[in-house]
Amino acid sequence: MVPKITTPSGYLHEYQKSVSNPIGFWNNVADTFYWHKRWEKTLEWDFKKPEVKWFINGKLNITENIFERHLFLRGDQPAIIWEPNDPEEPEKVYTYKELYDEVNKFANVLKSKGIKKGDRVAIYLPMVPELVITMLACARIGAIHSVVFAGFSANALAERINDAGAKMLITADGGFRGEKIIELKKTSDEALESCESVETVIVVKRTGQEISFEEGRDFWWDNLMKDAGTECKAEVMDSEEPLFILYTSGSTGKPKGVVHTSGGYMVYTAYTFKNVFQYSNGDVYFCAADIGWITGHSYIVYGPLLEGATSVMFEGIPTYPTPKRYWEIIDKYQVNQFYTSPTAIRSLMAKGQKWVEYINLKSLRVLGSVGEPINEEAWHWYHDHIGNGRCPIVDTWWQTETGGIMISPIAGVIPTKPTFATLPLPGVQPVILDNDGNVMCQKSVEGNLCIKFPWPGMARTLWGDHDRYKQSYFSRFEGYYFTGDGVKRDEDGYYRILGRIDDVINVSGHRLGTAEIENAINEHPLISESAVVGFPHPIKGQGIYAYVVCTDMPDAGEEELKKSILKAVSKIISPIAKPDKIQFVKALPKTRSGKIMRRILRKIAEGEYSSFGDTSTLTDPTVVDDIIKGVKE
Ligand code: WT7
Repeated sequence: MVPKITTPSGYLHEYQKSVSNPIGFWNNVADTFYWHKRWEKTLEWDFKKPEVKWFINGKLNITENIFERHLFLRGDQPAIIWEPNDPEEPEKVYTYKELYDEVNKFANVLKSKGIKKGDRVAIYLPMVPELVITMLACARIGAIHSVVFAGFSANALAERINDAGAKMLITADGGFRGEKIIELKKTSDEALESCESVETVIVVKRTGQEISFEEGRDFWWDNLMKDAGTECKAEVMDSEEPLFILYTSGSTGKPKGVVHTSGGYMVYTAYTFKNVFQYSNGDVYFCAADIGWITGHSYIVYGPLLEGATSVMFEGIPTYPTPKRYWEIIDKYQVNQFYTSPTAIRSLMAKGQKWVEYINLKSLRVLGSVGEPINEEAWHWYHDHIGNGRCPIVDTWWQTETGGIMISPIAGVIPTKPTFATLPLPGVQPVILDNDGNVMCQKSVEGNLCIKFPWPGMARTLWGDHDRYKQSYFSRFEGYYFTGDGVKRDEDGYYRILGRIDDVINVSGHRLGTAEIENAINEHPLISESAVVGFPHPIKGQGIYAYVVCTDMPDAGEEELKKSILKAVSKIISPIAKPDKIQFVKALPKTRSGKIMRRILRKIAEGEYSSFGDTSTLTDPTVVDDIIKGVKE
């Protein structure tokens, strides 16, 4: 088990050690795992190339560190507690031994369908146990999983399958989400029309709805699992071989396939999980994220299971059947650590006090927040009403690319301050740069958040596009990893994340590229161009504001056109990317070099109609006046 910091002086000591002797520090953590062969060299790196390698020539399998390592002591302990969407349906509990058997069985199924080490397997499943089983079965045989969030459209799924060249797709007939049913097989069929690489589709039966089946390509999960054996030797992986790909949004339209590797990701997620949440043996931990995002990968599946934890996995949504659902789950399983997003907190807070009264939340010890900045009001509500004033809130800052938590309090060890992610974890060396790339050394400053030294959990490349990896993270400031976030540091050295400074927006904790939304809108035949920006939204953190140029307004009028834009965005990306506001404009404010001046559009979306700064490079300043006039009308 990884070492655990339990006192402020312990933190200082470990942090200092991790900076003065990072090799010794990480060797010590990595030595707590089971390796077929210990690494020969701990780290090789060059942020200019860029290239990062950890635990070089080490051999391991991450699933042996989840199962074989724990079975003797914890075989009968629950690994995953699955809570269904409908509270009337019984939960499912998988002990480590039971989960191990299922993983091995499905690993054998994968092999029987021709999946080998290095092959990509796309996973488009709702929050059901089969999702965890599939991920770990892939890891068992060295196949690279690529989980696609079940809310994505056919088009978005196809794009991800094709980019990864996935040979197989695992999906379900459908999924339950609150009152709704999502038609996963239908969407998969639509996606697969344009995916040549997929040879086999395995379908989990969840809703029992009518679906179409393609003979020879499609197979029921249950039929294949029936005869599968429970023994499957783990593939021995090199530390630097990929474990998974997870797509995320960038500032251009195409999603980025973030690649994480076996050794470093394992060490980093386990270490951060154990320390940030202060997990102790026997605790029950509940992360309410979806496994379709990195939070679920690192802190429902890998981090907790690597540390032998009991991890609660919830299929549904926080408001179904009532806005008490999370609190009921916490009471039902006597949850000790709970981890969710500010959007969920704000939306539950908005439902009113009555939903948290008379609920027993005494088991809680630690509350976590992730995905977006948490505002003061939500922080205090979470602290006072859910934590009853006695649970530390860990506001955890990190990214899909970082693999695990980077800046966060260690629960009960680092004093918290509302809206601050506080201090870097051991092994993380943040720096704040000004726009010219100078490191700002004073304590109390504001600027671009960069990281100056590698950590084991960092993404190694973007699938099939190392050049874009370099462009995205290592070119804005040479020699540094650039996060894309703005940050402020205070007199105590505490960090407060200010949000994205690139063309990425964060809507309900979901990361979206403005360019991908614009591309979707522009597909509409009546639309010549558009510009999308974020604006402050009371529940979602950021809302989506689209300025749309329509040259030839149809007779049916603006409302109809708005509806068809929303439909197009849902279809091309996902309902989560639908603009909250659409404004039709005659033209977009552009500079003489043809660049859209988003700064102005952001201001207008925020409701500010003056102090736009330097606008001398605008080709036609009356465009701005027209847009403002349009808002006021
Ligand atoms: C972006 C990364 C990390 C898992 C979920 C999101 C924002 C993340 C915080 C936080 C303020 C945060 C950043 C970051 N973000 N955590 N605690 N406070 N902002 O992963 O989809 O890769 O998004 O989310 O802007 O860059 P992601």
